[in-house]
Amino acid sequence: AEGKLRFTRKPDGKSVEGSAACGDMVAVYIKVDPETKVLSDVKFESYGCASNIATGSIITEMAKGKTLEEAKKISWQQASEALGGLPPMKAHCSVLAVAGLRAAIANYEEKHGLVTEREPTTEQVVRYRLRHVMNPLTGLDLVRTKLVKEIEVQAGRVRVVVDLPADHQFAAAIKQDIVEKTEPLWDVEEVVVEFTE
Ligand code: FES
Repeated sequence: AEGKLRFTRKPDGKSVEGSAACGDMVAVYIKVDPETKVLSDVKFESYGCASNIATGSIITEMAKGKTLEEAKKISWQQASEALGGLPPMKAHCSVLAVAGLRAAIANYEEKHGLVTEREPTTEQVVRYRLRHVMNPLTGLDLVRTKLVKEIEVQAGRVRVVVDLPADHQFAAAIKQDIVEKTEPLWDVEEVVVEFTE
């Protein structure tokens, strides 16, 4: 993998995306100039395969110095072409890298009130977000491993019930991840995470 590349200061936007095709994950961290909305730095951590690492580093290079709007248009085809082409079986590896970059940009936009289409938060939206929260017990996401027992969205309040005892060793970390993924949603005011015991 790209190694533990981290910003010394907190990133302005970040994402963790998983591939439904292979179960691999990427994390992307971005720095954005608040005036010009230019990506001043992009870091990419891959927990995926060699093709994913390669497209991730190409995308990092392509995105740096671009505005958020320009960077959003980088496609997995462009990344794969820049690498001299990937075999069809490996297309999802570059799709994953592009999804990671786009999600980090979306995270920045949410945090800075730049989101224009304001889709109301529903159970579906929350469930989608929780697909990006890892279940540390298995290395897969919470939704797929059926740890999410219940999701309720009502008047700006999101309630998530996790099927683990509250004193489980990973409970605090999972709770923090859930809050981190759902709190930035524009119409969410409160996130409550409950455990089953
Ligand atoms: Fe999973 Fe390439 S096989 S990212």
